[in-house]
Amino acid sequence: MKVTVHDKTFVPYLSSIEIQDRIAILAKQISQDYEGKQPLFIGILNGSFIFAADLFKQISIPSSISFIKLVSYKGTSSTGTVITSIGLEENLTDKDIIIVEDIVDTGKTLTEFLPSLSKQNPASIKICTLLQKPEALQYPLDVDYVGFSIPNKFVVGYGLDYDGLGRNYSEIFQIGE
Ligand code: IMP
Repeated sequence: MKVTVHDKTFVPYLSSIEIQDRIAILAKQISQDYEGKQPLFIGILNGSFIFAADLFKQISIPSSISFIKLVSYKGTSSTGTVITSIGLEENLTDKDIIIVEDIVDTGKTLTEFLPSLSKQNPASIKICTLLQKPEALQYPLDVDYVGFSIPNKFVVGYGLDYDGLGRNYSEIFQIGE
């Protein structure tokens, strides 16, 4: 069924069952890859809160989770815009970190944010995103776990918003033609 968010109409794209089935596979893969380790999942707010919760529930190895919000501010003229995080209290030294994102679009946000995480000397950093728009990628970002590769069209639902609304749907909708 179509939904309207603000002034735009969206059509069903990924059902709740498709999303949950894919998450089960991702969680199994991550649990296998990190066997014997104790990864720290870091969910990027706001968009990833539903995905991170559903993924984390299916992880079968000892793991912890924390959430951060990314804020961008204007640095010096040589550094341009700088993206930093708020809310992370853990010491990241020697931790195996899995970043949990809702969607990687141009890759700008994570490309600009990752150096500040690396500075804290974690053992490893991997990225897990529910959605990726490969056609939109403009920054050289290696994404390790991808739920769904999707076309370059705007989507809402399952945590993703259009101007603040639409996050509450349990399925994902794509912008109508
Ligand atoms: P990037 O820095 O271009 O990779 O942008 C990533 C962020 O843009 C995501 O975390 C979302 O907040 C937002 N975003 C990109 N595409 C969409 C979309 O189709 N729907 C909702 N939010 C999106």
